[in-house]
Amino acid sequence: MFGAGTASVAAFLAACSSDGTAGPAASTTSSPTTLPSTTLPASTIPTSTAPGSTLPTDPTVPWWLQGNYAPVLKEVEAADLVVRGALPPELTGLYAKNGSNPPKADSPHWFFGDGMVHGLRLDAGKASWYRNRYVGTQPHLAGVGFGEGAPGGEGNQSNVSTIWHGGRLLTSGEVGFPYELSTTDISTKGVFDFDGKLKTSFTAHPKIDPRTGKMHAFGYGFADPLLSYYIIEPDGTMSHNEPVSIPTSTMIHDFQITDTDAVFWDLPVVFDLDMAIVWINDPANNPLPYTWRPEAGARIGVMPLAGGADKIQWFDIDPCYVFHSVNAFRKGDEVIVDVCRLDSMFSKDGEGIGGGSDPSLVRWTANTATGKATQEVLNAENSGDLPSRDPRRVGIEHRFGYLTGTRPNPDTVELGDIIKHDFTNGSRDVWNPGPTRHATEPLFIPGDPGDSADDAGWLLSFVHDDAVNETVLAVLDATAVSKGPVAEVVMPQRVPYGFHGTWAADA
Ligand SMILES: [Fe+2]
Repeated sequence: MFGAGTASVAAFLAACSSDGTAGPAASTTSSPTTLPSTTLPASTIPTSTAPGSTLPTDPTVPWWLQGNYAPVLKEVEAADLVVRGALPPELTGLYAKNGSNPPKADSPHWFFGDGMVHGLRLDAGKASWYRNRYVGTQPHLAGVGFGEGAPGGEGNQSNVSTIWHGGRLLTSGEVGFPYELSTTDISTKGVFDFDGKLKTSFTAHPKIDPRTGKMHAFGYGFADPLLSYYIIEPDGTMSHNEPVSIPTSTMIHDFQITDTDAVFWDLPVVFDLDMAIVWINDPANNPLPYTWRPEAGARIGVMPLAGGADKIQWFDIDPCYVFHSVNAFRKGDEVIVDVCRLDSMFSKDGEGIGGGSDPSLVRWTANTATGKATQEVLNAENSGDLPSRDPRRVGIEHRFGYLTGTRPNPDTVELGDIIKHDFTNGSRDVWNPGPTRHATEPLFIPGDPGDSADDAGWLLSFVHDDAVNETVLAVLDATAVSKGPVAEVVMPQRVPYGFHGTWAADA
């Protein structure tokens, strides 16, 4: 999904208990544990280029069920966490990250586990508490897995992302309705369908326009409407819902906005009804009813941000697949989108599970005057995925993007570096956390509100160390990524790599 990487789990597995809950001692839900609040000296973290880990994986176990992809099977809470270094005091709020966490550790696919959110509360230089909680979805409460019952509506794992908008903390699983969580203890309040206005699925990657506070989103489906466009007002009220016509049902994981446009990409990962029938009968053996069909073509769609799907303008591009994008902006007639591109997806056994082909960071430019789109490869070596950017730059020209690097490994998706990419000149500032350490999505949080530079802020990333089976939340100064973290918060248990997080700052 994000490129290939190296198995680095043998030492980890050796230290791992059989229930997958290895890691530093942690309390269970009922009684918070107070950990020593001593501030430790800043850790010495290798910053030089290091080779990828060469530790083997266990070939008898799916890669998403071993190492730090394996689920944690207990809900834990802890208070006053150990901090190495000094947390920026302006980071006061809740960091909440979602991931696929199969409760029986037997999921047939990385994407199918129940949603589990890891929440970390930071307060003016202190790490006040950590909790991990399953999202209390209908399938989770019923004890059924993905595919056991029709997916959609409340019947989804809600395991992909967290969203902070309109004073609500939501989770999204992409194939159904979001769920709402409490920011006090990340418990689940219930399914959230925007007062009944949401009729289809809801993306895991909505975009919040920093100029208006509105959230722009979409949902895709297996039947009409195959694609829908939504606008949610700053108070969380859905004000716009319209279908967008596309020829066939495709997997659409992300989209973008400019200050005047909504930008979709309709790429040839196509829903396959025959595979779906097989899957419904035996979800364990045919886990994903999507297939690579380049003959279906690939297109970028540009439509008015305020809505008006009848005005959408489509631009043909070469077949490819894109899970994630950095940002988009408009320059005159040109709509420019920076994406993490894969040459194909689900085109052969294992692809999309262990990695797509030839990942690259690419700039698409769609010219609304000529009707033509071009593609420029910005980086093709350790190009990165799981991107982030300054949320104040969403929809307008950005200078920087932040990505997660990968390491060559045929057996798993091995995450590695944190990469800061300068889109003005292609230069990169990279932090390599070390051969046994693996960074995850680097979430950018603005720092000094008086400094509008789009690297004036902090990057939050869970970093796991196979050698000692420890996860920390690393906090990096985005102006000096290669210097490594200014602070690390030691988690009371390992935090599986997961997918996407958000930051809910105190008002
Ligand atoms: Fe995603």
